[in-house]
Amino acid sequence: MTIRKPLIAGNWKMNTTPQEGVALSQSICRIVDDADEVDVVLCPPFTSLIAVYSVVHHTTVMLGAQNVNQYPNGAYTGEVSVEMLRGLVSHVIVGHSERRQYYGETDQTVAAKASAVVNAEMTAIVCVGENDVERERRRAERYVRRQVRQGLTGVVNPSHVVIAYEPIWAIGTGVSATIGQIEYMAASIREEVCDVYDQDVADGMRVLYGGSTNASNIEQIVASPAVDGALVGGASLNDAEFSKMVSIMAESGAATR
Ligand code: 13P
Repeated sequence: MTIRKPLIAGNWKMNTTPQEGVALSQSICRIVDDADEVDVVLCPPFTSLIAVYSVVHHTTVMLGAQNVNQYPNGAYTGEVSVEMLRGLVSHVIVGHSERRQYYGETDQTVAAKASAVVNAEMTAIVCVGENDVERERRRAERYVRRQVRQGLTGVVNPSHVVIAYEPIWAIGTGVSATIGQIEYMAASIREEVCDVYDQDVADGMRVLYGGSTNASNIEQIVASPAVDGALVGGASLNDAEFSKMVSIMAESGAATR
């Protein structure tokens, strides 16, 4: 039997000053530091990483970046490479739908970034997910499978990859996908991973859900054996709410299966 340790990551997006990041992370760490049944990852903006690192580095809470450039260094004004994140973060979110939508990231750049992250022995949280048009046209599964396949092209160490299924229509809308929709897509994602690699890799791959998760719906979502955790946006900016989500996950079936 494959054990997949549940993971909950808070994507703070473009929110928090360094001072606010310290306060938020201190408060979260105070409550969840002993939650070793669950991997807890905080993903502040780049400008808060060092400040938040100083808070979390001697706790069980881990640090993630929200993006990275695929190149190691060079003339890429405004960008940040894995080399610059080394020693600071253990996780990097790659291919978030907001990066794909607003900054033109393609499956090819996502694959290059995922490779850069795993080659640096960090964990890439690769985001996939369809928009409402794809879903209405019944093309969601095909769309997500393509994102998985192409986003993993050339990634040679898939044990350092986590996939986050985040349907765009569920992000920040207050409307989460149904458990049926999440389970269906998680199974398709795992099938695609099996096709790209093999059954062992697919069985070991953690598949998260993201999109309007909160302390009220997380229990039902992670109760599904298909779901290994959550990528949390808005609710991760509230210390009490996010900490409650961590506790619910730590006590849920996800932590014990
Ligand atoms: P919300 O939880 O605010 O819907 O955001 C989800 C998300 O995009 C996390 O990466």
